[in-house]
Amino acid sequence: MDSWVRMLFLFACIVPALVECRVRHYKFHVVQKNTTRLCSSKPIVTVNGKFPGPTLYAKEDDTVLVKVRNHINHNVTIHWHGVKQLRTGWSDGPAYITQCPILPGQSYLYNFTVTGQRGTLLWHAHINWLRSTLHGAIVILPKRDVPYPFPKPDKELVVILGEWWKSDTEVVINEALKSGLAPNVSDAHTINGLPGIVSLANCSTQDVYKLPLESGKTYLLRIINAALNEELFFKIASHEFTVVEVDASYVKPFKTETILIAPGQTTNALLTADQKSGKYLIVASTFMDAPVVAVDNLTATATLYYTDTLASSPTVLTTPPPRNATQVANNFTLSLKSLNSKMYPANVPLTIDHSLFFTVGLGINPCPSCKAGNGSRVVAAVNNVTFVMPTTALLQAHYFNMKGVFTADFPPNPPQVYNYTGTPPPASSQTTNGTKLYRLAFNSTVQIVLQDTGIIAPESHPVHLHGFNFFVVGTDVGNYDPKKDPKKFNLVDPVERNTMGVPTGGWTAIRFRSDNPGVWFLHCHFEVHTTWGLKMAFLVDNGKGHKESLVPPPKDLPKC
Ligand SMILES: *[C@@H]1O[C@H](CO)[C@@H](O)[C@H](O)[C@H]1NC(C)=O
Ligand SMILES: *[C@@H]1O[C@H](CO)[C@@H](O)[C@H](O)[C@H]1NC(C)=O
Ligand SMILES: *[C@@H]1O[C@H](CO)[C@@H](O)[C@H](O)[C@H]1NC(C)=O
Ligand SMILES: *[C@@H]1O[C@H](CO)[C@@H](O)[C@H](O)[C@H]1NC(C)=O
Ligand SMILES: *[C@@H]1O[C@H](CO)[C@@H](O)[C@H](O)[C@H]1NC(C)=O
Ligand SMILES: *[C@@H]1O[C@H](CO)[C@@H](O)[C@H](O)[C@H]1NC(C)=O
Ligand SMILES: *[C@@H]1O[C@H](CO)[C@@H](O)[C@H](O)[C@H]1NC(C)=O
Ligand SMILES: *[C@@H]1O[C@H](CO)[C@@H](O)[C@H](O)[C@H]1NC(C)=O
Ligand SMILES: *[C@@H]1O[C@H](CO)[C@@H](O)[C@H](O)[C@H]1NC(C)=O
Ligand SMILES: *[C@@H]1O[C@H](CO)[C@@H](O)[C@H](O)[C@H]1NC(C)=O
Ligand SMILES: *[C@@H]1O[C@H](CO)[C@@H](O)[C@H](O)[C@H]1NC(C)=O
Ligand SMILES: *[C@@H]1O[C@H](CO)[C@@H](O)[C@H](O)[C@H]1NC(C)=O
Repeated sequence: MDSWVRMLFLFACIVPALVECRVRHYKFHVVQKNTTRLCSSKPIVTVNGKFPGPTLYAKEDDTVLVKVRNHINHNVTIHWHGVKQLRTGWSDGPAYITQCPILPGQSYLYNFTVTGQRGTLLWHAHINWLRSTLHGAIVILPKRDVPYPFPKPDKELVVILGEWWKSDTEVVINEALKSGLAPNVSDAHTINGLPGIVSLANCSTQDVYKLPLESGKTYLLRIINAALNEELFFKIASHEFTVVEVDASYVKPFKTETILIAPGQTTNALLTADQKSGKYLIVASTFMDAPVVAVDNLTATATLYYTDTLASSPTVLTTPPPRNATQVANNFTLSLKSLNSKMYPANVPLTIDHSLFFTVGLGINPCPSCKAGNGSRVVAAVNNVTFVMPTTALLQAHYFNMKGVFTADFPPNPPQVYNYTGTPPPASSQTTNGTKLYRLAFNSTVQIVLQDTGIIAPESHPVHLHGFNFFVVGTDVGNYDPKKDPKKFNLVDPVERNTMGVPTGGWTAIRFRSDNPGVWFLHCHFEVHTTWGLKMAFLVDNGKGHKESLVPPPKDLPKC
């Protein structure tokens, strides 16, 4: 290409409206920035100095090239959460799973094509706890001339929910690992980076995100939960949402006053400005129905205002559901169904090659140095295996046939059958450890029943699978019954997503087809549980020919 042609092409791609552009170029500079919240200032890790980070836009079928340059004194990787990464596992991002970290001063080009997905996703750091401030939205628009399967909104808005710590989150988690106990909960929640009206004993602030609406117009809210450790309720006074999509998959539209959203999940909802001019309170607060689990109970607030409202108008208030509102949560979850139209069919696998049963939960292991934990520490496990992070990336180890990094013997069932959610508890709360993968042939069909356990306490687990979407075919409380429960599965229009909550003291069954070769992480998206070891990975072999094979590693792939 002549250099002036290349210049024109690049320019056109930066201003997407100009031409139909198939390649989107982004530059992410990972830099520190001092930021003030809750009456104190601290340096946080950001992309391009923004918190939340910049929104990445693409059209379905576009290739996205993001050059990430690390300017901070900490290793970095970025994950494009929910992007299927067909054959491009090198660009998925989880540290030591698909790549070695980008070292301070280094850069890496993420290179992937967005195929068969449209809607909202998120990008975030995938190393230690950096994602608390290193995150942003991914907006995937439908192909040119393909309409939304719902009335076209007048405007679209990104709403990112998060958590804010007064301390550095790396210090928070390192302190917890040393003690063996649970890490501190966050100090506040945020809506588009701001906690709202806060009045604590020694700190009162009015850092309020303001959302303007014009009377009569309809808005598409692209809602993202970027929090580390908390499922959230989201609600707006006097307004109802029409949910149309989750995790970049269309759903049958339904109306609700309250949205439930777990870390890593996204929800697109229509909101019509059909109320009297005025100001209305927006709230985001924690859902956690396991009473023993400590949570941040501060509600984040924002203000929705009609643009013709007088500055002096009072705000119409609302209160979020209580933290243990299981019914409100279930109501939302059970309303989610795939659109399953001719254009967007739900291709649920009906026959299963690998039927897996995974217990997910906590454990207690010895830790002589853990004084606060009385010589033991909290861990987490899948099928009683606490995953040990390797020191070289698993995808490299697989591709280059490096020995001794992992074993492909992850157990398809837990080692013991017991009353997972009840009594008596198992004789020992200890786990084993290892870097174990479960191997799948290309294009196998897989069912996983994820069963919460009551070791220490039953608790919900928003489990995320990389590399695939799955269908949520069933969920309930108690122990999964392999005889009775499959009869109740929805194999017609189950919701399709990449992250779903295993209910407290219950189970969830998912199905997917392993049509993407590579190494794919499965983990709880509560970062504290990931740190503790609630994670494993699938190794999917190549199929036939290059179109069913992993692309070769890029030249700038970081080394360990
Ligand atoms: C407010 O008080 C709490 C507890 O007394 C303390 O931990 C926190 O650092 C204080 N915050 C500020 C901004 O002084
Ligand atoms: C950022 O804040 C810290 C205190 O938290 C201060 O020491 C430092 O000088 C500030 N840096 C800049 C660039 O403002
Ligand atoms: C992106 O990856 C594809 C293979 O998937 C490769 O053909 C292409 O050259 C890469 N682009 C850049 C800019 O490296
Ligand atoms: C965690 O909370 C404890 C108790 O409030 C406090 O002493 C400690 O400093 C906190 N740790 C961090 C890293 O903020
Ligand atoms: C919120 O949590 C704090 C600390 O755990 C506790 O002191 C406070 O009473 C709680 N507030 C409410 C309303 O539950
Ligand atoms: C929710 O918590 C409140 C306050 O702790 C308690 O009174 C109530 O019984 C709980 N509700 C349920 C359904 O557990
Ligand atoms: C459940 O949803 C229905 C229909 O939207 C609503 O009428 C009902 O009040 C909801 N129940 C709870 C507990 O939220
Ligand atoms: C499992 O535990 C629960 C709660 O303790 C109890 O009600 C139930 O009967 C137990 N199930 C079996 C099969 O033992
Ligand atoms: C988990 O593994 C440990 C160590 O081998 C064992 O002691 C424990 O009984 C196992 N627990 C379960 C529930 O299988
Ligand atoms: C794994 O378990 C073994 C044996 O119990 C123990 O010696 C080792 O320290 C553990 N490794 C990690 C990383 O926890
Ligand atoms: C996977 O298997 C299904 C069912 O046998 C088949 O329809 C589909 O074409 C296969 N996909 C690929 C990518 O080979
Ligand atoms: C950064 O990553 C490299 C490569 O894996 C590793 O050797 C190094 O210890 C890491 N640095 C830190 C501070 O974790």
